[in-house]
Amino acid sequence: MISLPFEGRPQDDILESMQVFRENDADHKSGRTWSLVYHLNQEHDAFIKKAHHLYFSENALNPMAFKSLKRFEHEVVQMSAGLLNGDGNVVGTMTSGGTESCLLPVFCYREYARSKRRRHGFAPEMIVPETIHVAWDKAARYFNIKMIKIPLKDDFTVDVDALKKKINGNTILIVASAPSYPHGVIDSIEDIGRIAFERKIPFHVDSCLGGFFLPFMEKVGYRVPKFDFRCEGVTSISADVHKYGFGAKGASVLLYKSMDYLKHQFFIHPDWPGGVFASPALLGTRPGGPIAAAWAAMNSLGMNGYCEMAKGVMETTRKLTTGINAVDGLEILGKPVMSVFAYGSTDKRINIFAVGDIMEDKGWHVDRLQRPEGLHAMVTPAHEAVADQYLLDLREAVGRVKADPDLSSRGNAALYGMIAQVPFRGLIKKEVGKMMEKMYGPKGEMPMGQNGKESFALRMGACALNFLSRWTSGLRRR
Ligand SMILES: Cc1ncc(COP(=O)(O)O)c(C=O)c1O
Repeated sequence: MISLPFEGRPQDDILESMQVFRENDADHKSGRTWSLVYHLNQEHDAFIKKAHHLYFSENALNPMAFKSLKRFEHEVVQMSAGLLNGDGNVVGTMTSGGTESCLLPVFCYREYARSKRRRHGFAPEMIVPETIHVAWDKAARYFNIKMIKIPLKDDFTVDVDALKKKINGNTILIVASAPSYPHGVIDSIEDIGRIAFERKIPFHVDSCLGGFFLPFMEKVGYRVPKFDFRCEGVTSISADVHKYGFGAKGASVLLYKSMDYLKHQFFIHPDWPGGVFASPALLGTRPGGPIAAAWAAMNSLGMNGYCEMAKGVMETTRKLTTGINAVDGLEILGKPVMSVFAYGSTDKRINIFAVGDIMEDKGWHVDRLQRPEGLHAMVTPAHEAVADQYLLDLREAVGRVKADPDLSSRGNAALYGMIAQVPFRGLIKKEVGKMMEKMYGPKGEMPMGQNGKESFALRMGACALNFLSRWTSGLRRR
């Protein structure tokens, strides 16, 4: 067990250790990662850090105490509402990130439904596309809502006719993405909105990824399907400032069409011995830094700064998607609208996960998708300088996989492939649960790959192998 040092260590010494510890972390500033971090440039980073630092200790829990934070939050909400074409009635709160902006609407609309439907046997349900971000599954679990998943059409957007058929008296909420995390496509928000409006069901657009990108794309001349408050029936939208808003981590905006909805998100407890308690969002203590940095980022970049960013990122995206489509045996999945996309293999000889393994060996941090299998990318300004190298490495990786199909039965590729084949997903869940118990157990063990890199795939692959061997030996015994 690690115990608190009796004597504190010198601060310089500690900072030096921290620099050493981070040496094996993902190298995001040089554009080697394709998720997790949104880096605009060094100058912006330095500025955001200053703004964050100014509010390092402040707490937005009590807006009376830190009025400036309340002002920042209000202005961020208002500016975001304007970007997403809301009218003067749009209200909202800032949250700690996309996940909180997905959890809260589920709670809010459950309370909203309860305020309207008090009938016996009411069992709330929400309807979502298969590709909805997993944070919504988490929300359904936390707030005990039945989640109905709707299949996709060939273009990877949700099948609106199928969605319509699932609406019933228990439906408290419909959610769709603009765009979806896996394929970067925008669901038919206008069509779903019309249905939601007719049936008087709240409709949330998860635009955590697109909220601070699509409006600027549109302004610089790209065709973007309507996805915001312009669409009838949309009652709320989430948009993350800590993604393409280039704020500090821990900042998202959650907007509602009017206070008729938002008021159900508020938690007010008048009888607590600690005093009357009121909180607008999920957290109690609300760090001031991310709120202040969000406000600073939006004011510093302004419309022109964001438009310039969107233009540059889209040019890099086009270069990448055109380059990937030009590789014989690869194709972009669906028709991604913005700077988030996935690609898969059209050639039996090319195992896309084996391509991913080679790309990792070449120093790229790539994310894998399942159902269908693919590699994923979220393009940021940091990728402009490395796009050509990425394509060069990708072509080389594909060539190597084609020449040596055995690669698909080795390394992580084999393991990812196996995970996809395990028929009982509950087993994967159980094994991943065990892995998490280790990671968060007394020893804090990390699952490690052969080269010392963290490897979930390795651990899950081992679990899949373990399962398959138990399963097949069970079959043999029968
Ligand atoms: C569409 C969408 N919604 C929600 C989230 C969750 O956001 P966060 O990771 O900030 O909690 C993400 C994250 O990528 C996302 O892409």
